[in-house]
Amino acid sequence: MKLRTGYFAPILFLAMLSASCAKEVSQTEPIAEAVEAPAPKPVKTPAAKRLEPVDRDPFTYANYKAVRVTDLALDIAVSFDERVLEGTATLSFDRIDPNARSLVLDSNDLEISAVEAGADGAWRKTPFKVGPDDADLGSRVEIEIPESATKVKIAYRTSPDAEGLQWLSAEQTAGREQPFMYSQNQSINARSMAPVQDTPAVRMTYSAHVTTPPQLLAIMSAEQDSGPRDGDYSFSMPQPVPAYLLAIAVGDIGFKAISETVGVYAEPATIEAAAAEFGDTPQMETEASALYGPYRWGRYDLLVLPPSFPLGGMENPRLSFVTPTLIAGDKSLVGTIAHELAHSWSGNLVTNATWSDAWLNEGVTSYVENRLMEAVFGRERARMEQALAYSDLTAEIAGIEQPELTRLQLPADIDHPDTAFSDVAYIKGQFFLHFLESRYGRAPFDEFLKTWFESKAFEPATSADFRKHLMETLAAAAPDAASVNEIDEWLYGTGLPSTLVVPTASAFEDIDGRETVWAGGEMSASAIDTSKWTTQHWLHFINAIPDDVTGERLRDLDRTYDLSSSANAEIAFAWYRRAVKNHYAPAMPSIEEFLGRIGRGKFLYPLYEALVENDEREFAERVYAKSKPLYHPIARKRIEEILAPKT
Ligand code: BES
Ligand code: ZN
Repeated sequence: MKLRTGYFAPILFLAMLSASCAKEVSQTEPIAEAVEAPAPKPVKTPAAKRLEPVDRDPFTYANYKAVRVTDLALDIAVSFDERVLEGTATLSFDRIDPNARSLVLDSNDLEISAVEAGADGAWRKTPFKVGPDDADLGSRVEIEIPESATKVKIAYRTSPDAEGLQWLSAEQTAGREQPFMYSQNQSINARSMAPVQDTPAVRMTYSAHVTTPPQLLAIMSAEQDSGPRDGDYSFSMPQPVPAYLLAIAVGDIGFKAISETVGVYAEPATIEAAAAEFGDTPQMETEASALYGPYRWGRYDLLVLPPSFPLGGMENPRLSFVTPTLIAGDKSLVGTIAHELAHSWSGNLVTNATWSDAWLNEGVTSYVENRLMEAVFGRERARMEQALAYSDLTAEIAGIEQPELTRLQLPADIDHPDTAFSDVAYIKGQFFLHFLESRYGRAPFDEFLKTWFESKAFEPATSADFRKHLMETLAAAAPDAASVNEIDEWLYGTGLPSTLVVPTASAFEDIDGRETVWAGGEMSASAIDTSKWTTQHWLHFINAIPDDVTGERLRDLDRTYDLSSSANAEIAFAWYRRAVKNHYAPAMPSIEEFLGRIGRGKFLYPLYEALVENDEREFAERVYAKSKPLYHPIARKRIEEILAPKT
């Protein structure tokens, strides 16, 4: 199988972007004049040829243009003995095509035992067919719907190997006494948890009745009932959401309030540290609402998962799921909290219609994240994070072999939705918005984004919709600020646009060059003044260490700053990757320990890739065999691809 590019396969080798693509200039002055004038004339360039929006989501079997699910009511029991969810899913639907006689759903490894159709106030058995299993898409479920039916009730159970669910034994949790299970449904794993129309183009309200062992708590991405911890829980999500935002977690989970409307769920051992680390979340929410309109989801809570969680964060509505590796003790990694919160507007409120437009979720969110970081932690922190993101982006783009995959709007024929989640969607998308902000001015741009979220709230959106909103608002008011050509180069062009402004951070300029002086041996590590360095300084410094630095120099740095035992997961990861590339053997025991303790893909995939590429395949295979029980099925699949012998 071909390696996917993207967030789930971050590119390893640093290659320098050809400098000609990007201009090194300081932030341009905003042009904020709102004058009445015609929109600018389009100029065609081949690179920026406008693509048609993808008409139908290719990653769903659902016949959502004919029959559309509007509500899901789950009634399920969570069995830790069998590692399955079992019960019923009742789906209400609208018949858009009045002649439609079947409802088509997605499923993946579900065992469906019976289906009933709700018609004339009664339930009657109805025929259904389950299609063959596709490795990525799962199976099509076609259900006959009598003319008068408005609902179907499906009796089913999940597979112990469901791709979207992880079942942890007690030993794999922090408390070590109770088992834990949780879902990760983005992009197309909701179908392994319940039969649904698993496409971001379809939104449904949902409710759930969930039973668990009585000592455990169940929580979902929905309003939680307020009853006691007794193994019987009910939930409701009154706002319509796409299936990928359906989420559940069950375990020995405690709660601590941060404010009246914000709190943290976590295993008891983690809860105090988490509440302290994420104490600025209410302020982030206040800033976001002030900029982009009211927070529409009621409460905002965080769930800190066990270390095996394969992601940094997941924006499940009302309840973002986050990795415990964000808890660094100094709030240095809370950008991910700002990111998941930002999805409450970009993604959860206005949702990419298909995964080809993933940048509308992730790029817009990364921009909003950066604005929230600026509002809460100041401009310098935000600029440092932009500069770090820029070097990630150039490295990633340099490694993408197919130029079409460097466009914001991707073609319909990408091989898997995860392909869409590269740094192109996240960071090129983010920088597109920084570009627009710099050209039209911050205040008009803020207004533009706010009205984007308002006008498309609870709807799917495409790149073409975004372009149209831009043309009708900012571009119409200030036609000279940016040409259509410049805009389309961002939206539809490959690589880095000629109008990209390379973000610089003065904090980094102050330390730039030191790594070469130190690497060259003219300066010892202890002579570098790191007393005021933040996590971001360290990341910038470590990432700039050249490939050919000797082991002796690395040992000097490691002995002075003890990088191999850094408790900050991002610093440790950056250091370990560097260590593997430079064959720095003293770090190997720490790398083995790290890979055995943390299941976050952002760290695992590049480290396993670096190991394989740097003659450490045996080490990688041994560590994987040992650590595999910890890893999520999604992570296992990716790592097994990395470790598979090249054909
Ligand atoms: N929505 C994503 C996670 C995701 C993307 C899951 C694609 C499945 C498929 C989430 O908001 C995210 O972007 N998480 C990032 C953190 C962010 C700060 C870049 C992560 O997990 O690292
Ligand atoms: Zn995101």
